[in-house]
This record gives sequence, C-alpha cells and structure tokens, in this order.
Amino acid sequence: MIPVTALGHVTFETPDLEHQIAHYTQVVGLTVATREKDRAILATHLGDEVVILQHGAVQRCTALALHVDASIDLSAANKMLSGKGIKSERRSDVTPRMASALVFSDPNDTRVELYSEVQRLPRAAPPHEAAPIKLGHIAFMVRDPKQMVDFYTSMLGFRVSDWAGDFFAFLRCGSDHHTVNFLRGDEQRLHHFAFELKDWAHVQRACDHLGEKDVQIVWGPGRHGIGHNIFIYHFDPDHRVVEFYTELDQMKDEAAGYFEPRPWHKDRPQRPKVWTDFKAARLTWGPPPTPEYAGTHSKHTPSTTEKAS
Ligand SMILES: [Fe+2]
Repeated sequence: MIPVTALGHVTFETPDLEHQIAHYTQVVGLTVATREKDRAILATHLGDEVVILQHGAVQRCTALALHVDASIDLSAANKMLSGKGIKSERRSDVTPRMASALVFSDPNDTRVELYSEVQRLPRAAPPHEAAPIKLGHIAFMVRDPKQMVDFYTSMLGFRVSDWAGDFFAFLRCGSDHHTVNFLRGDEQRLHHFAFELKDWAHVQRACDHLGEKDVQIVWGPGRHGIGHNIFIYHFDPDHRVVEFYTELDQMKDEAAGYFEPRPWHKDRPQRPKVWTDFKAARLTWGPPPTPEYAGTHSKHTPSTTEKAS
C-alpha cells in the first residue's frame, strides 16, 4: 500500500481552452502558472498548482495528482504495483515543477500521478476577493463505487468516511472528511470538483463575485449533511460542476475515529457511517438543488440529491 497524504491537482481536457482559462482565472480566481500551446497550468494565489487544462476533442477529466510523503520510495511503489498487476511508469513531464511522478490508471481509467515533491510558486496577491485557498476534493461518477473504494483504500491508503446507502462513497486521505468521492452511475465521468474557501464570509464574497460575473449558482448556499460543509455550486463553460465550500468536517485524530465536534452535528460524536436518511445526508439546511444541478446526475442513479427531492 502506498499511503496518499493529499490531493495535488486535477487534469481536464477541454475543446475550448481559452474559455476555460478565462473562467478559472476571472471567475474562480486561479492564476496562470504555465501557458503552453495546448495546455495551461493554473495555481492558487498561495502557490499550489491545482488545475491543468489540456486541449482535447471533448471535455473530460483525465488525471488526478496525489501527494505521498517524501519517505515513500517511488521505485519500490512501482514494483509493488507491478506485483499487483498494475502497470505504472515514472514520468518527469507531469508539470515543469514536478520532477518525478509514478503514473498508473485506476479502475475508472483515470490516470493517477503520485508525487512527493513539487516546487510551489511564490505567494501572490489573490486575483479577486473570492479566490479559493486550495483544491479540496474530486467526485467521480463510476459504475462500481465499491470497486473504487476497495482500490483507493487497499492500494492508496484512503479511509472511508461515509457512505450514502451503497451508492455514494466519501474517502479521506488526511484530516478533511473527503478528498475523493465515488457515486454510482451508468457512465464514468467527473461528477464535480471542489475548492475550499476560508469561511462563511468568503463563501458570501464568492456568491457576490459569481453574481457580478453573471454565473448562476445552481445549488446553494446550503450545508450538506455528509461532511457538513457549507456549499455553493456553479457550472464552468464546459458544464463541469464546480463547488466552493467551507467548514468541512475534520478528523484530526484517526485513533479516536470521530470528526471534530461541531454545533450542527446531530450524531455526537460524529463517526463515519452509512447514511440511510438521504434527506439528512443531502442537507442540514438550504434550498433543494435546481433542476439544472439535478440534471447532472445519471437518470438511473439514486443519489442524495435525487432521493431526497
Ligand atoms: Fe463536493
């Protein structure tokens, strides 16, 4: 097992690179760290590379970079994966600031790029007052969430935080309640991905900023049940669902096995569990999702949003 400690960046292909760059800089508040003919690497103003936009025929999520501790020997990890029948290779071209990565495909055919060292950019002034502080989590729609959970827990050291029924899994690799999610669907694709904001006031500024840019909030603001984060969602120009969130549950002590107490927790202590009350899983408070947001789910997939609607 290769223990992952954090999410690095996500790579998307897009047929319209310019529109995507404009959205992620002007609306989301990232900065362009590297610009090549068919690729842009975007970073937070705090200096972390978080999104790679690559020109492609259709919009899709192709890769996920995950951080492992510097004590992990990537050559030994390569051998371990090979022993499990997983073909992996060393790459030095993931980003100009990442000297080396170990790359392989997960069962969903998403490329996983494991790295231990990446050069951070100098801290810069935020492009606007709603700019996010980090890339927080990525949710995938998959045919078999159990298979994905087995892979990410047994191969990459993720822990299960919560399940909604048997169709929506939330996995953590650090203290954040979830870093990757797998939602059962009849196709394999990105469901949404999320940036962390500092606090509720920061989310309010993001609402105002989206309004100023004429970008519709397609769900929220509200507070989820699972993870208890305050959230807002919007679409990027490729109709990708982008979440801004704050106040996600934190598990600071794995041995204790519960999330830090919060006033809005109904379970005390709040431990990982299988949620069967999908209405409670979906929302602690807030409006129901708009039809535009609900339309991002597979028609044949139960979800915390659809079941409770
Ligand atoms: Fe999310």
